[in-house]
Amino acid sequence: MAFRVAQISDTHLSAAHPEFTANFEALAEHLRAIRPDLVVHTGDVSAHGELAIDDLRFARERMDGLGLDWLAVPGNHDVGNDAVLGGATPANAERLMRWREAFGADWHLRDIPGWRLIGLDTLITTAGLPESEAQFAFLAEALATAEGRRVALFQHKPLCRERLADTEMTYWPVLPEARRRLLGLLEGHDIAFVASGHLHQWLDRGVCEGLRQIWAPAVAFVVGDAWQERWGEKPLGYVEHLLHADGRHECRLVTLPGLARHDIGLMPAVYGPQVPLPEHA
Ligand SMILES: [Fe+2]
Ligand SMILES: [Fe+2]
Repeated sequence: MAFRVAQISDTHLSAAHPEFTANFEALAEHLRAIRPDLVVHTGDVSAHGELAIDDLRFARERMDGLGLDWLAVPGNHDVGNDAVLGGATPANAERLMRWREAFGADWHLRDIPGWRLIGLDTLITTAGLPESEAQFAFLAEALATAEGRRVALFQHKPLCRERLADTEMTYWPVLPEARRRLLGLLEGHDIAFVASGHLHQWLDRGVCEGLRQIWAPAVAFVVGDAWQERWGEKPLGYVEHLLHADGRHECRLVTLPGLARHDIGLMPAVYGPQVPLPEHA
């Protein structure tokens, strides 16, 4: 029987935002009913964890409330964003410590029959912390010792938005230098897919440039077309991965009628006003 992973993402939990908690609870009720073998959260677990630990604690309690086996990697709203992008809340040692206090590890390794699941903290890849280097070393070791298992990667930011050679330094993908380093490590290993969140868009274009990248939709809200281009699709929901012991993998989008379709562009009280795209300005 296949091992079933429910990849959930971008729940943006906070006591201050009951509408997002309601979406999470609708998802939680569904997950408790279908009981996947593992829930993997690909980040932005909390709404404002980059500012204080309260939302991280609130999110941790909700995740524990699933009553299921789960693991989570942090997003930019949990540990801060890539410092080189120049935002007010860079991923740094203090924010990483808060995550670890509330959630424990920010990277993970889990073996299941035929597979090695690896969770990565993409936000510290450019932070220049000792933990940044430790994570690269962890990844190299995890790949070197996979012993014939297929590898599945879970992380917050997608490796790229369009092409692996993209040079854009933007909010959305893993930044080029960190991407080059990650790709160098992945080279020559049997990577079945890289599953990410952050874009609040669903996309599975299959294997492209030798890698299958799967974007999970958000649970909490979409970023409407007036504020964010549409590279994939913008449902709310989660991704179900079926991992067979012989290495076969299937995945599908699962949407739930109980998820209210919030648009963050219409909710400036949460993260401030979004910047409209030129054609909508
Ligand atoms: Fe998010
Ligand atoms: Fe994010």
